Amino acid sequence: MSSRKILVTAALPYANGQIHIGHLVEYLQTDIWVRFQKLRGHRCLYICADDTHGTAIMISAKKEGISEEAFIARTHGEHQQDFAQFDIEFDNYGSTNSPENRELCGEFWTQIRQAGLVKEKDVEQLFDPEANTFLADRFVRGTCPKCASPNQPGDNCSACGAHYTPIELIDPVSTLSGATPEVRSEKHLFIELEKLHGFLDEWTQSGAHLQPEVANYLKGHFLHEPLRDWDISRPAPYFGFEIPDFPGHYWYVWFDAPIGYMASTKQWCAKHGESFDDWWRGDTAEIHHFIGKDITYFHTLFWPGMLKTAGFALPTKVHIHGFLTVDGAKMSKSVGTFVAARTYLDHLDPAYLRYYYASKLTPRVDDLDLNLEEFATKVNADLVGKVVNLASRTARFAGATGLSETYPEDGGLFAHAAAQSEEIAAAYEACDYNKAMRMILALADRANPYVETKQPWTLKKDPDKQGELQDVCTVALNLFRQLAVYLAPVLPRLARQTGELLGDPIVRWDQAQTPLVGTPVGKFEHMLQRVEPKKVEAMIEASKEEAAAAEAAAPSAHNDSDEALQAEPLADECTFDDFTKVDLRVARVVAAEQVPEARKLLKLTLSLGGDERRTVFAGIKAAYEPEQLVGRLVVFVANLAPRQMKFGLSEGMVVAAGPGGADVFLLNVDEGAVPGQRVH
Ligand code: MSP
Ligand code: ZN
Repeated sequence: MSSRKILVTAALPYANGQIHIGHLVEYLQTDIWVRFQKLRGHRCLYICADDTHGTAIMISAKKEGISEEAFIARTHGEHQQDFAQFDIEFDNYGSTNSPENRELCGEFWTQIRQAGLVKEKDVEQLFDPEANTFLADRFVRGTCPKCASPNQPGDNCSACGAHYTPIELIDPVSTLSGATPEVRSEKHLFIELEKLHGFLDEWTQSGAHLQPEVANYLKGHFLHEPLRDWDISRPAPYFGFEIPDFPGHYWYVWFDAPIGYMASTKQWCAKHGESFDDWWRGDTAEIHHFIGKDITYFHTLFWPGMLKTAGFALPTKVHIHGFLTVDGAKMSKSVGTFVAARTYLDHLDPAYLRYYYASKLTPRVDDLDLNLEEFATKVNADLVGKVVNLASRTARFAGATGLSETYPEDGGLFAHAAAQSEEIAAAYEACDYNKAMRMILALADRANPYVETKQPWTLKKDPDKQGELQDVCTVALNLFRQLAVYLAPVLPRLARQTGELLGDPIVRWDQAQTPLVGTPVGKFEHMLQRVEPKKVEAMIEASKEEAAAAEAAAPSAHNDSDEALQAEPLADECTFDDFTKVDLRVARVVAAEQVPEARKLLKLTLSLGGDERRTVFAGIKAAYEPEQLVGRLVVFVANLAPRQMKFGLSEGMVVAAGPGGADVFLLNVDEGAVPGQRVH
């Protein structure tokens, strides 16, 4: 097997926030792949860095009253500590705010300019005069220009789904300061990506640079039409690198971020006296990027386009994974499933998550679900029950004698497991860790009955059977060691402990080919505790509390008056039973009509799912046009006694806030809810 030279990156996490268990899907997936390559004897580098530039960082630093540099220095330390404690081992962990990165950005820029890809255009953007900054879409809210729903986000309307730019919003408000933003026109620089269309067609659709579903997605969504110009500059104030030939303007964070992969490599090369060009130019090294599906466009179109233009090596492969869900739903702060790496570590062993994610990861882009119940049962059944058990039931008996001088007859168990080596390796190589874990556990399933049948604990009691006992332990410990080698990319601590127990560090994949004999066996130390479901619950509880505390501490961007409460004071207390008498349901408006004779009413037909329909006359005529309502979800009082009205029977009520007239506001139902669901 000839040795490959492999450079591996994981996406650079934003310096703006904490590492959480969603991020860990990626950093663990990548760490496992790198450890596997190293175990196979390849030269492999795991390169990462913090992504430090952009508006969000400026705002966070400002909120805390510290400089951006101080802010990103703190997260740099926190991120590295979190990763280290999950046994994620980078060869270099840099920062995009480094001199190496600034210099490389300049190099790219010169090449891209020379290639004639840069064009200047005027861009109108909202500017917050109080916070003194241009506002990214998510920092603006206002009234939808299409349906007039108030308090909508800057890019699309949650009521009618319309897409627009923040400039089109009616009565926009900056969520940073509450100020009314101004429209300012500024010059921006754009990269004309369309000029690279031919190259990108070729690169994305041929070779094995992308998973097949990713290649198809790009073709169907972007490459079938002209590629849009990419806005890569931002006017001051901006935290980033100033563009040398365009003073007062900065490279947009997504321009300098991927170059950060190279800057971090450069730091590593300087520390190790290696040539940077050997990794990033020509074809002596493979380059593998691991990323999540949300940043596909940047890594499969912009980035190869930039590399190509600047004359650097192109990625060998971009490996794209899906998103983490917890118990089938998006991570949620209020439910406590938005778990910070730190919070996890306060309660649980990182080995559990490493193994659990490995058992779920495939080469596909599918989302990955962390089912908390399965998490505990799987780790306990597989790792504690089948793997570690092999050692814990035999190591103690072999302490006095060490391993037998020759490897005993084992019915072909060792040879069988040794023969699986290449197939397991192929599964790791293909990022099919799910398959690798299944194969390894199948080996454990063959090894355990051997120990159960031989009963070393019974042999131990018979003075005539001490030779047999030593042989049985020699077999069991060697089968265990094979598993530890195969699992070493996933469970580096277990591999280290196994090496210490048997006096032979696990450093190479082919150590699973030859049994150890005639060597001493150390003292068996506990290797892995069972997962206690209580601790999982405690972790969720702690996450919930952290989220609540953070929310309470966050200064509100709103300065709400007490007028509404004064106009209608809070009602008398009621019991929970009182409350549940009212059956509130999610319903979809399937038809909405004017009732010409009625001054205030619209006639709504609501669906509760299936064939269940209800007719309601709602007093919202002055506030809504019927067209805006069709399709949206509302909250419906389902068990209100029907009321005969002049125009027909009203079979319930749609809930809304506001004093009435044009000031009536229907309640929005968040995405994910479906008609018929009860509202508690
Ligand atoms: N800073 C950019 C990446 C720049 S790379 C030149 C970024 N940062 S991030 O912190 O938001 O995300 C880092 C990586 O973690 C991304 O690949 C992202 O897809 C991944 N994940 C973040 N949340 C995730 C989940 N909930 N689930 C799985 N992966 C997720 O994007
Ligand atoms: Zn709208």
